[in-house]
Amino acid sequence: MSLQRNSGPASVWDHIEGIAYGGDYNPEQWPVNIRLEDLGLMKEAGVSFLSVGIFSWALLEPSEGQYDFGWLDEVMDNLAANGIKVALATATAAPPAWLVRKHPEILPVTADGTVLGPGSRRHYTPSSAVYRRYAAGITRLIAERYKNHPALALWHVDNELGCHVSEFFGEEDASAFRAWLERRYSTIEALNAAWGTAFWSQNYGSFAGILPPGVAPSTLNPGQQLDFQRFSSWALIDYYRELVAVLREVTPGIPATTNLMASSATKALDYFDWAKDLDVIANDHYLVAADPERHIELAFSADLTRGIAGGDPWILMEHSTSAVNWQPRNRPKMPGELLRNSLAHVARGADAVMFFQWRQSSSGSEKFHSAMVPHAGRETRVWHEVVGLGSSLKRLAPVKGSRVESRAAIVFDYEAWWASEIDSKPSADVKYLDVMRAFHRSLFLRGIAVDFVHPPASLEGYDLVLVCTLYSVTDAAAANIAAAARAGATVLVTYFSGIVDENDHIRLGGYPGAFREVLGIRVEEFHPLPAGGELKLSDGGVSTTWSEHVHLAGAEAVQAFSEYPLEGVPSLTRHAVGAGAAWYLATFPDRDGIESLVDRLLAESGVVPVATADAGVELVRRRAADGSSFLFAINHTRSAAAVEAAGVDLLTGTAFAGTVEAGAVAVIAED
Ligand code: GAL
Repeated sequence: MSLQRNSGPASVWDHIEGIAYGGDYNPEQWPVNIRLEDLGLMKEAGVSFLSVGIFSWALLEPSEGQYDFGWLDEVMDNLAANGIKVALATATAAPPAWLVRKHPEILPVTADGTVLGPGSRRHYTPSSAVYRRYAAGITRLIAERYKNHPALALWHVDNELGCHVSEFFGEEDASAFRAWLERRYSTIEALNAAWGTAFWSQNYGSFAGILPPGVAPSTLNPGQQLDFQRFSSWALIDYYRELVAVLREVTPGIPATTNLMASSATKALDYFDWAKDLDVIANDHYLVAADPERHIELAFSADLTRGIAGGDPWILMEHSTSAVNWQPRNRPKMPGELLRNSLAHVARGADAVMFFQWRQSSSGSEKFHSAMVPHAGRETRVWHEVVGLGSSLKRLAPVKGSRVESRAAIVFDYEAWWASEIDSKPSADVKYLDVMRAFHRSLFLRGIAVDFVHPPASLEGYDLVLVCTLYSVTDAAAANIAAAARAGATVLVTYFSGIVDENDHIRLGGYPGAFREVLGIRVEEFHPLPAGGELKLSDGGVSTTWSEHVHLAGAEAVQAFSEYPLEGVPSLTRHAVGAGAAWYLATFPDRDGIESLVDRLLAESGVVPVATADAGVELVRRRAADGSSFLFAINHTRSAAAVEAAGVDLLTGTAFAGTVEAGAVAVIAED
């Protein structure tokens, strides 16, 4: 399935041969001799694609209406002469000082009324009409100047929209919120009904009195909170659309995107919604160095990005060659980790591998952030690995355009994430991603590919569907999930799913209202566990976080709670429906419990690993339209590992001999 996006521009992939390689290029930091040296080094590394001008506004327009494009002309010309393509930025991610001085009203305001000042970056609110006018202005000038430039391949709109600050509480934001609400509800009666304002005397007589959910004596109306999250995500993509309208007018043939931050850490932005406006999906991903399973979190981010892209190839717009500068302790990557990380993204659908940034800064906030060219220069492990990656990516050209194969799906919804974590819930320990990540981890370790699918999207072709903590769900999405079970899939729904509709209103008559029928159960009351508490299960297993009073209504009990007051109450159920089955998990089993449940679900659904290998080898298969297939085998261990596969390892050009060396990667073009 491919996403239907705005028609018009050509595909960025037509501009670049093979897998694209490069990073953010900020040459404005360097004198001309270094910029010239850069060109030679880029050639040595095999760089083909760079993001340019992301934070350049103050240099391009040093004072209002005074422009200096000379340096950028030279950079663009030199890159074109060296065969390097550019994702040219709109330069709007850091407003210049003169603009802030003249229009301080563009600055972001936090929930407690604090105005966030300049001197850093991203100091504007997307709802500021003044900021939008100036941003559209510089965007138009850049587009006009470079519209026919041979280096131009893609527009890089702003940068990481919503990074640092994603919700804005100023006067202009409040009135944009009110206008958004008026469009959503038309009448104030409809808003009052949706927000349940009859409770606590919160009824509104008109839209005029409504404010963003700021600071209040107690918990704020959940409908107001949820709509403000929706509005805040919309306000950023609406700002993006305004800049893209300018770019479309000037360069209808050049695609546009902005770099997302899809991972387990970014909650505020509804990227499934945003995807409709991006011509190609681009993502930034940074490892948490202290996480011993950071490669699994990377896979989660990459799989989610592929889901947002509807399965199409995507751009890894930023990651790091080694340490970052913004974690408490910034440890370098281990030997070979740069290659493993990069090819894990490629395995999971990226057709471009890029870094922040090309050359490590000598001054400024990010001087201790690694880059492709380190402070210490060419005689470094990082540089050797950067050059090695460049030549590896060249060898992977045949992989370009192929797609990841998957028979398992995880249903993912940003709105459910928001709604499930608004305050005043049965347990603060219920987190949207926890159960989902436990299942994703299990499938990762088994070499089973999994797609992330938006709840209303087609589930056809998936034999296993996991629905984790999908607290809020529309009627249509619930019907879509039930239909997948009836059509033959094995569907697992986990606790605290299907509880409310899209307005955060309880689906009455017993939980989980949206899935009661397909699951053949009815839940009477929730029994969340105390902090750190554990619960024994009938098969000797242990679980945490949650239990509840489940009644069977057609389903069979597979496992039960075995502790007071829920002894004998089902904790896991299965309901045969149509050609498939709907399972319900009423607690959070420990790792062994997750593994034995996954065993059962795989046995029933017939979903199998993409290949067989020793433990610790990440396995993913991409398949091209002509049927040829590429097996990525990434050895995360420090000893050699066996992989059962036959074909040519594209990275060495020789027949694959069945072993991937310690910490190494094989990409096998299969026989
Ligand atoms: C990203 C940002 C880059 C750089 C990078 C450092 O959030 O887009 O400009 O700051 O982080 O990890």
